[in-house]
Order: sequence, then C-alpha cells, then structure tokens
Amino acid sequence: MKKNLIVFGTRPEAIKMAPLVKALYQKKGFETKVCITAQHREMLDQVLEFFEINPHYDLNLMRPNQNLFTLTATIIENMKSVLEDFKPDYVFVHGDTTTTMAAALSAFYSGAKVCHVEAGLRTFNRRNPFPEEINRSIASRLTDFHFAPTEASKMNLLMENIPEKDIIVTGNTVIDALLFSVKKLKAKNYTDPEIEQLKQRIDYSKKLILITGHRRENHGQGFINICKALKEIALNHPEIQLVYPVHLNPNVQKPVYELLGGIPNIKLIAPLSYPAFVWLMEKSYIIITDSGGVQEEAPSLGKPVLVMRNTTERPEAVEAGTVILVGTDTEKIVFETQKLLENKNHYQKMSKTHNPYGDGKACERIIDFIKIE
Ligand code: UD1
Ligand code: UDP
Repeated sequence: MKKNLIVFGTRPEAIKMAPLVKALYQKKGFETKVCITAQHREMLDQVLEFFEINPHYDLNLMRPNQNLFTLTATIIENMKSVLEDFKPDYVFVHGDTTTTMAAALSAFYSGAKVCHVEAGLRTFNRRNPFPEEINRSIASRLTDFHFAPTEASKMNLLMENIPEKDIIVTGNTVIDALLFSVKKLKAKNYTDPEIEQLKQRIDYSKKLILITGHRRENHGQGFINICKALKEIALNHPEIQLVYPVHLNPNVQKPVYELLGGIPNIKLIAPLSYPAFVWLMEKSYIIITDSGGVQEEAPSLGKPVLVMRNTTERPEAVEAGTVILVGTDTEKIVFETQKLLENKNHYQKMSKTHNPYGDGKACERIIDFIKIE
C-alpha cells in the first residue's frame, strides 16, 4: 500500500489540491492523508468546508501579519513530526507558496518522493512575483515528479535540465475544481446562504467589475495606484458596480478600506467561499486581478481579465487575447477598463471562452502516473 501525504497551506493551494484529495481517497491501493500548515486560516477553512475535507494534521501556523522567516522555519520544524508519524512514500505539494517550498524541503529531508503539482511556471524574474518565483524554483530542485499544467511549463522545466521522463503534462487541477463547483452550483437542490446574501448586497442587474488583489510585490505604492484607478473608474461610471472581496492580509486591508471605503458603487466585502466567488465570476462583466488562480479560471468562464502585474507565469491566456497585463499603473488600469466598457468589439474579442489550462482531468492523469510508478 503506497502512502501519500498531501500538504497545503493557503486558499489557492487548497482549491487546487481538493479535487486530488477527493480522487485519491477513492483509489484502492493508496493510503492518503492531508496535512495543512494553515499558513492561511479563515480563507483556508472556507475551502475545506466546501470540499468537505477534514485534515489529518493541522499545524495551525498562521500568525497576524506573519513574516517569511518565521513562517518558513516553523513549517519545516513542524513538518518533522508529521513525516515521522505517517512515513509517507510520496509527498504532494502545490505551486509556489512558502508552504510549498518548506514542505518540499522537509519531504526531501525525510526521504519521501516529492510530487509537485502545478510545476514549471516561471517568469524568469527572481523578484516578481515575490517570493513565488524562487519558491517554485526551489521546489523544482527538490521534486521527483513534476506535474506540469501545460506544454509551456514542461518546456521551462526541460530548460532547467529536468529529465523528460519525470515531467507529466496534466492540465491544471484548478479546472477540475472549477468544473466540480460549477456543477454543484447548477444542481437543482443546491442552495448556498452566502450566495443568497450576496444577491441581497449587490445589484447584479448592473454591469459588475470583480476585483481581487494580494501580491506582495504590489504592497505599498502598488496598492495605492490600484485603488486610485478603481476610484476613478467608479466615479466615471456610476452606472456600473465594482465588487471587491478584500484579501485578509493587513497590507491589503489597510489601503483598500482607507482609500475605497464609502464610495457608493464600490462594494468592499470579506473574502468569499469558493462557490460564492465562482458565482460572482460568472455574473461579472470584467475581472481585474493580480491573482494566479483567477487568471486561469476567468478565461474558462469567458470573462476578460486585466492582470495587475508586470509579469505573468501564465502566458497562455495572454497569447490567446483573453488576458491583458496592466501592471499597477493607474492610467493603464483606467484606460484598459474603459476600453472594455466602451468598445463592444474589443470586449467581444476578449470575452471568448478559452480554456488553455486544462480539461478537468488533471487529477486522473496525476493518479494514473503514481499508480504505475
Ligand atoms: C500567500 C502566499 C501567496 C499566495 C497567497 C494566496 C506566500 C509567501 N504567499 O500570500 O503566494 O498567492 O497566499 O492568497 O506563501 N490572513 C488572515 N487570514 C487568512 C489568511 C491570511 O488573517 O485566512 C492574514 C494574516 O495576517 C497573515 C497575512 O494575511 O499573516 C499574510 O498571509 P501570508 O500567507 O503570509 O501571505 P499572503 O499575502 O496571504
Ligand atoms: N477565491 C475565492 N474567494 C475569494 C477570492 C478568490 O475563493 O474571495 C479563489 C479564486 O477563485 C481562485 C483562488 O481563490 O481559485 C485564488 O486565490 P488567491 O488570489 O488568493 O491566490 P493566487 O491564485 O494568486 O495564488
């Protein structure tokens, strides 16, 4: 019996690992356990609740306004006893967070084989995104099996001399999660109190612009520029509504509530559970974000995305024309948003449904590989 330990810590890792956890639980011949570092707390728990996952190990590490030094050190220190207790053959980590990097290193020290889901994304800029580009590069050095979401991410790994036999192109598990959620949302008897509440709070008969943002390299002046742009858009277009579920990082909460509070057509709300967020994405006209996951989900829903970053490790949707990089330049954010609001042809070109990130079968491919390994 092969033993798998799946480790994650933040909201996006949980969303993207949840379908793999569920699929592995159902497979014979494996014993699978889940360990959460809880680098995030409330935002992680929302996901666990929706996907009905009860972790076997909860390191409960989140601290208010935590720093990378202590977070990294405590993850490694706490992973030791989990690895000694369960003695997994395989440890699965996801993406590029501090949990990913520190759990991969811990797994490597324990002698387990490291399996990296969403491997091979790169901007080739060490400080952007920070610290994710370095986290995922380190994870690649520690990894035995690289589950790359696209051919482009496989190419990045080949360029780093990783043997081709250890790279498997699977599609991104985010599409597995998205399809699962869309199906659940459309089921006849599904009701969600959070969605019902949202329907009361926002006027979704108006054109909606959905916003999310949290990147560390945008903290400070970046967020000030972003907020100025959003304010200008809201004041120029009283007929539309901006909805912004604000990330719980205090470096995001402070500028956003200070600079955007009290503007009638900007709704600042708490982070949403995954199904409510998917519902809101579907209802939106435009999405403005610096998120990695949202860049992958929105093109599948046919929503134009303006990405508030200077680089992206997800070039596929940019090349297909459904995503535009606008950085944190106030003028550029306002210009590109107004162009989408005012130019129908441009809007239609950007809103074609495009799905370069997967077909919903990524988890199946990962498990098929592990079964025969
Ligand atoms: C982290 C990841 C980032 C990922 C993002 C997803 C690192 C270094 N950063 O960034 O790669 O894209 O998550 O959202 O791994 N907080 C809460 N409750 C929560 C979550 C966060 O209060 O449920 C607050 C806490 O004060 C916490 C702070 O946000 O200390 C920062 O959390 P942290 O995980 O360090 O950074 P993120 O910006 O969330
Ligand atoms: N998301 C969510 N609730 C929200 C905002 C986002 O469930 O209020 C989901 C979103 O659908 C995507 C993921 O969270 O799957 C993205 O997380 P985040 O932007 O925090 O991290 P990143 O993807 O940039 O690492």
